[in-house]
Amino acid sequence: MKTTPGDLTQFTIPSSSSRLSAGVDRLDNAGKPETPPETTPKVSAPLTGALPTDDIPVAQREGDDTAPTARPNVVLLVGSLTALGIAALAAGGFVALRMQRSQTVTATETPSQTTSQPSPTGSASPTGDTLLGHFAYQEAPQSELAPIVPDGTIKMRKAAATAYREMVAAAQQDGVSLVPISGFRSIADQKYLYFDVKAERNQDAEERAKVSAPPGYSEHHTGYAVDIGDGNAPSLNLNQDFDKSAAYRWLKAHANRYSFELSFPKNNRQGVSYEPWHWRFVGDIQSLKTFYRAHGQK
Ligand code: DAL
Ligand code: ZN
Repeated sequence: MKTTPGDLTQFTIPSSSSRLSAGVDRLDNAGKPETPPETTPKVSAPLTGALPTDDIPVAQREGDDTAPTARPNVVLLVGSLTALGIAALAAGGFVALRMQRSQTVTATETPSQTTSQPSPTGSASPTGDTLLGHFAYQEAPQSELAPIVPDGTIKMRKAAATAYREMVAAAQQDGVSLVPISGFRSIADQKYLYFDVKAERNQDAEERAKVSAPPGYSEHHTGYAVDIGDGNAPSLNLNQDFDKSAAYRWLKAHANRYSFELSFPKNNRQGVSYEPWHWRFVGDIQSLKTFYRAHGQK
């Protein structure tokens, strides 16, 4: 759905220094989700096949009193067969037990790998849960953040901040002005953006979630996401018409080189409203895991 510039406005969030820097995506009349959010992959059930129970050689189960003259050979034969049988049983049992254990471990330990191992800070929630189309993310620690504006009010994760600054410099060389509007946001910031603005606008939970993630579920918590505007066309900022700006055209052509990608393209699978201004960094293993694991993608 298309919006008019009036549908989106940027404003500052009161009451904390980090909030002062956090631009707000305000979009009304968002479209409905077209595809339900992905769920966590299913885990196969453990192998429960039974071990063989009646594999004892017949010669060992049934005596043979009818051929006494052949007894020494029969005893030898029976002995050999028994030994072979026991060896085969032992080997088969061992293999079966190994298979069973391996399957059980796969079924029971795969999910806990994401819960028992400490998740990188600021990454996707270990539970991989979703709410109203948004994935859970942990807050990046302040020590991992670096400023992306001279006054330090907007920050990103260090690797993302470096790439972002390089990208801005390259755009500038091409005569394009990329301006950051919002970077890292705390869960408290997002609480304000989701609940307070929702109340102010009399929106229901689902409607609000089209444009603003519930606290704990915003990519901005990770420090890898940034809302970008066009310094030469500020009226398009945080507006879906931003995709008509020189800044957006430049980003579409060059952002991959700096490992930034659009989080919410048109008709995205999360059902979040189209946000041509919201870009995320996926240029190191932690950021890649943060977003692609969270989404259950390969
Ligand atoms: N505007 C995006 C969805 C967020 O609030 O994280
Ligand atoms: Zn954003």
